[in-house]
Amino acid sequence: MKNADIFPEGKEPSPKPATNKSVFVKELSARDRHRILKHFLALKKSDRLLRFGTYLSDELIAKYVDGIDFSRDTVFGVVSSHFRLVGVGHLAFAPRPADEDISDKDKIAEFGVSVSDNARGKGIGAKLFERGAIHCRNVDVDTLFMHCLASNQTMIHIAKKAGMEILREYGEADAYLKILPADAVSVLKEAVQEQVASIDYNIKANTRAAVKWLGSLPGIKDDS
Ligand SMILES: CC(C)(COP(=O)(O)OP(=O)(O)OC[C@H]1O[C@@H](n2cnc3c(N)ncnc32)[C@H](O)[C@@H]1OP(=O)(O)O)[C@@H](O)C(=O)NCCC(=O)NCCS
Repeated sequence: MKNADIFPEGKEPSPKPATNKSVFVKELSARDRHRILKHFLALKKSDRLLRFGTYLSDELIAKYVDGIDFSRDTVFGVVSSHFRLVGVGHLAFAPRPADEDISDKDKIAEFGVSVSDNARGKGIGAKLFERGAIHCRNVDVDTLFMHCLASNQTMIHIAKKAGMEILREYGEADAYLKILPADAVSVLKEAVQEQVASIDYNIKANTRAAVKWLGSLPGIKDDS
C-alpha cells in the first residue's frame, strides 16, 4: 500500500531514508502505563512544553498518564533494541454525546507525539504519525487534528509532509488532516504493521527479561 492511500492526492510524504524501515509501531495497553510515564518524565522541560503546550510538572504528567483511557483512546509506541519506550503517539478521541444521530465521522481525533531525545531524526515521529493516520482511517474518523506551538518547526515539517492544513494564530498552530475512507488494503496494512510490531516487541521484551535475569546471577553484571 502506498502513502497515497492514506494522504490526499499529491500530498504524500516523500520516501523516508532506510533507517525508518526498522521502526515498528505497536499499539500500547494499560500494562504499558508505567513505561509511558517513564518516557514522558524523561522529556526535558522544553520538550514537555512542545508536547503538552504547557510545562507539566512530574506530578501533572503522572496525572495525565493515569488518566489515559485505553478503552477510548489509542496509544502507540516504539521501543528501542533495549526495550525502552522511545516514542509515544497518543490518539485521543473526543467523547461523543449520547446522540444516536451523530456518526463516527463527527469524531475528531487529536494526535500528540513525543520521541526521546536520543532517538530523534530516525523517522520515529513520522512513523507514529503515519500509524495514527491509518488508524483513524480504519476506525472511520475523517479528521486528524494536531495542536502545537507555531515555533515547533520539526512537528510542522512532519505535518506539512503528511499534507496537513496548518492554521497559525498567536504563536500556536492547529493542523488538520482529512483522512480517506478505509478500504481492505488500509485495514490489512494496519493489521500487518501491528503483527510485525508485536513480534518485535515480544522479542525485545524477552531479551530484556533474559538479560535482567542473567544480570541477577552472581558475578554477572547487566550493562544495558
Ligand atoms: C517532533 C518530534 C516528535 C519528531 O520526532 P523525530 O522522530 O525526530 O521525527 P522524524 O525523525 O520522524 O522526522 C523529523 C523530520 O523533521 C525534520 N526536522 C528536524 N529538525 C527540523 C527543523 N528544525 N525544522 C524543520 N524540519 C526539521 C527532519 O529533517 C525530518 O524530516 P525528513 O523526514 O523530511 O528528513 C520530536 O522532535 C519530539 O518529541 N519533540 C518534542 C515533543 C513535540 O514537539 N511533539 C509534537 C507536538 S504534539
